Amino acid sequence: MDQGSFITLEGIEGAGKTTCMAQLRLLIQQAGKSCLETREPGGTQLGEELRQLLLGHKHTGMSDDAELLLMFASRAEHLQQKILPALGQGQWVLCDRFTDATYAYQGGGRGIAFSRILALEEWVQKGVRPDLTLLLDLSVEQGLERAGKRSAPDRFESEAVEFFRRVRQSYLELAGNEPDRIKVIDASRDLDEVLVQVTIAVNNFLQDKT
Ligand code: TMP
Repeated sequence: MDQGSFITLEGIEGAGKTTCMAQLRLLIQQAGKSCLETREPGGTQLGEELRQLLLGHKHTGMSDDAELLLMFASRAEHLQQKILPALGQGQWVLCDRFTDATYAYQGGGRGIAFSRILALEEWVQKGVRPDLTLLLDLSVEQGLERAGKRSAPDRFESEAVEFFRRVRQSYLELAGNEPDRIKVIDASRDLDEVLVQVTIAVNNFLQDKT
């Protein structure tokens, strides 16, 4: 059986993940692969309920550690219920955010030590990591301007600009440390150009895999 792959999309708010996910799905399907599209936090019934707690404004004063643990609770459920079974059946899993977001937001943004996140990653994921990650990178100003035009800000979108600067910086550091897995896409460009970059990155990955 053809082996599936695990592909994730990352970036600060307003980076254009939704449009790039649609392109990603199209490319994978055109390559004749069956794929599962999902997201974090979320992706399962429990995960979606945790997402509401994490993104809603009911718990604005949530502690940083509670936030981190809820992200991993959602991930544990997601892996067990959805991601691992799909990969086991040879499906391609396309996930809107995964653990890189935890390093960027809870690590970089909130200031939780990376070593503590690593301990949870090892405990929950047991070595399961994305095969390819597309990091949609753009300036915080541009991202927030785009995101601001969409809807009322959620609990993360309500953070200060400085928070997102740290998030972006952490994402870029992660990409610098793992250039083979994390491909940086310049998301500040026009949509057409962004989609071309996504297509090149995905086609390169598909080629390497065969
Ligand atoms: P989004 O997927 O609609 O962009 O919203 C998810 C929000 O959750 C986003 O602000 C990033 C945040 N997040 C974390 O802080 N840590 C995580 O591990 C994940 C998956 C998301």
